[in-house]
Amino acid sequence: MGGNGFLLAWRFVVLLQLISGVLGWGKEGHYATCKIAEELLTEDAKAVVKHLLPDYAGGDLASLCSWPDEIRFHYHWSAALHYVDTPDFKCNYEYCRDCHDSSGHKDMCVTGAIYNYTRQLEAVGDSYAITNYNLTEALLFLSHFVGDVHQPLHVGFTGDLGGNTVIVHWYRRKTNLHHVWDNMIIDSALKTFYQSDLSQMIQAIQRNITDGWSNDVPSWGDCASNKTVCPDPYASESIKLACKYAYRNATPGSTLTDGYFLSRLPIVEKRLAQAGVRLAAILNRVFASPKQTARE
Ligand SMILES: *[C@@H]1O[C@H](CO)[C@@H](O)[C@H](O)[C@H]1NC(C)=O
Ligand SMILES: *[C@@H]1O[C@H](CO)[C@@H](O)[C@H](O)[C@H]1NC(C)=O
Ligand SMILES: *[C@@H]1O[C@H](CO)[C@@H](O)[C@H](O)[C@H]1NC(C)=O
Ligand SMILES: *[C@@H]1O[C@H](CO)[C@@H](O)[C@H](O)[C@H]1NC(C)=O
Ligand SMILES: [Zn+2]
Repeated sequence: MGGNGFLLAWRFVVLLQLISGVLGWGKEGHYATCKIAEELLTEDAKAVVKHLLPDYAGGDLASLCSWPDEIRFHYHWSAALHYVDTPDFKCNYEYCRDCHDSSGHKDMCVTGAIYNYTRQLEAVGDSYAITNYNLTEALLFLSHFVGDVHQPLHVGFTGDLGGNTVIVHWYRRKTNLHHVWDNMIIDSALKTFYQSDLSQMIQAIQRNITDGWSNDVPSWGDCASNKTVCPDPYASESIKLACKYAYRNATPGSTLTDGYFLSRLPIVEKRLAQAGVRLAAILNRVFASPKQTARE
């Protein structure tokens, strides 16, 4: 991406974000999931990630986890890869039925993209030379989309564009329900509980990964039949959570305050945790050294 084009695209994104907020988890949410994942990488995976990141990232995957949002108007084809829409009020998800863009192109959705970029990264084990894909981009797309598929309203209803057309008030501010789940719940939590310091919030989530949710956590990263990647159950969880928590008591025109905020925040924090743990598990499998793969 050329410097000027990037800056221009970035300004455009900021402008659009101010107007409508149609992007994935906000910058904070993506930073958190990738930071959580980074801490759980094996030495092998850490080395490949560092090798694939551009130098200016300083080895920090989290610093570039929002890159797919920043280029999504520049890479127009990638816009549909951030979400998957499901039939209104059905509260379930099926890959074959739901994974397509608005013109019906199959596999063009967030779960299709997670399969796609995992497959591309699997070429790393063979040789850096034989793939036509840009594996830096594949790593950043995969890391970002594993975050997005965990945001419940990224697997929302088709009719309201995953809550984007559901206008609500977040306390006194007018916004839409999708934006509440991308940004506002996290922003309010940072101000209310974490001295506006994202690293404090990440540490609190990490403590829960170690203690709070301990019975569950070890199985979060597993895939049925030992597959390398399995985004479909994550999408199913998201639409269930969207129906049970995001859409509930958030009809168009409603005002959401403490009752909604305090009951939904634990859901958001757990989804950020699951996204981080699962991203690490995927990268650890994809980038396992050949010796380890052979042993399995
Ligand atoms: C797969 O990745 C390539 C390269 O970025 C992209 O052109 C294609 O649209 C992607 N397809 C899906 C389903 O993600
Ligand atoms: C891969 O993609 C990144 C981000 O778009 C870009 O900066 C880099 O130049 C690309 N690498 C190659 C070899 O094209
Ligand atoms: C930690 O887990 C507890 C119990 O599930 C939950 O109530 C709390 O909100 C969680 N905190 C964070 C930061 O995830
Ligand atoms: C998955 O892997 C575990 C441990 O590597 C093994 O015990 C188990 O049999 C495998 N399951 C399947 C369905 O392949
Ligand atoms: Zn996104």
